[in-house]
Amino acid sequence: MELQGKTAVITGGASGIGLATARQFASSGANLVLGDIEEAPLQSALESLRADGAHVIGVCCDVSVESDVTALRDAALAEFGAAHLVFNNAGVAAGAAIGTPKSIWDWVLGVNVDGVINGVNAFVPLFLEQNEGYVVSTGSLAGLGGVPYMGAYCASKFAVVAISETLFHELAATGKNVHASVLCPGFVRTRIYESQRNMPNELKSYNEDPTVQAIAAFAQEAVKAGIDASEVAQEIENAVRNDKFWILPHEHAAIRTTEQRLEWMRGGPPPTINLTAATQR
Ligand SMILES: NC(=O)c1ccc[n+]([C@@H]2O[C@H](COP(=O)([O-])OP(=O)(O)OC[C@H]3O[C@@H](n4cnc5c(N)ncnc54)[C@H](O)[C@@H]3O)[C@@H](O)[C@H]2O)c1
Repeated sequence: MELQGKTAVITGGASGIGLATARQFASSGANLVLGDIEEAPLQSALESLRADGAHVIGVCCDVSVESDVTALRDAALAEFGAAHLVFNNAGVAAGAAIGTPKSIWDWVLGVNVDGVINGVNAFVPLFLEQNEGYVVSTGSLAGLGGVPYMGAYCASKFAVVAISETLFHELAATGKNVHASVLCPGFVRTRIYESQRNMPNELKSYNEDPTVQAIAAFAQEAVKAGIDASEVAQEIENAVRNDKFWILPHEHAAIRTTEQRLEWMRGGPPPTINLTAATQR
């Protein structure tokens, strides 16, 4: 899909990968609808994009709430008369496999998985009906292999990869001009390590736990060593242009992770965890 004149809806569009992708798509002539739960960053993202000439609106929404995502689609239709691409990208990170309260699992899975489900349900029927559309969803390297202390996050990202692969096959079976990709980056310099800013207030005491703080400090260091979000945004546009399913900005680490899992399944040693490799392209 070429983006000139098309309407792209981006969740988590106020920050990081979502905002960088908005800039990339705007520079290619797309109209934009940004959905985000954070109102003030959303407003400043809109101002800065408009200052660069983008046609963009913003909708405050929580992707884990189905009616918020249908309202996002309806806002795109009302403003631009169409929607052609949805980027299910909003996400949060938290939760080791051991000792994480169920309420934190529910929050992470609610945003990262229900957000994608809601995006698929809101947009795919429209795309099929108009015989044109593209669904990009944000997984992660953490959706290709288990990473210690990231249990809830890994579970959510494996689910995003599974939904995307299934969607790929189902869309192919329709024979329609509707396509899907999954984005699986390693570390990218964004505010993901400050995900707790969007946690429901009643869950925030979780962040006072010293183990949670130690894991968060570690994650912050890795994220800050990551690549720039603009590099990821360019790869997303290339994939959309060329209908490429796997978007792997850290391709080497993605393939290494997958090969090591395969070796493990064949009776070899368990994978070694190398976070430094996940910071490099
Ligand atoms: N940064 C990385 O290293 C990295 C690596 C792999 C995957 N990812 C994924 O990339 C995606 C984008 O994250 P990012 O790194 O740009 O982080 P970010 O925190 O900079 O951006 C995430 C955006 O999602 C929004 N958001 C959070 N909860 C929401 C909700 N319930 N409804 C709507 N919006 C919500 C936030 O307000 C924020 O604007 C996420 O899915 C994340 O899991 C990030």
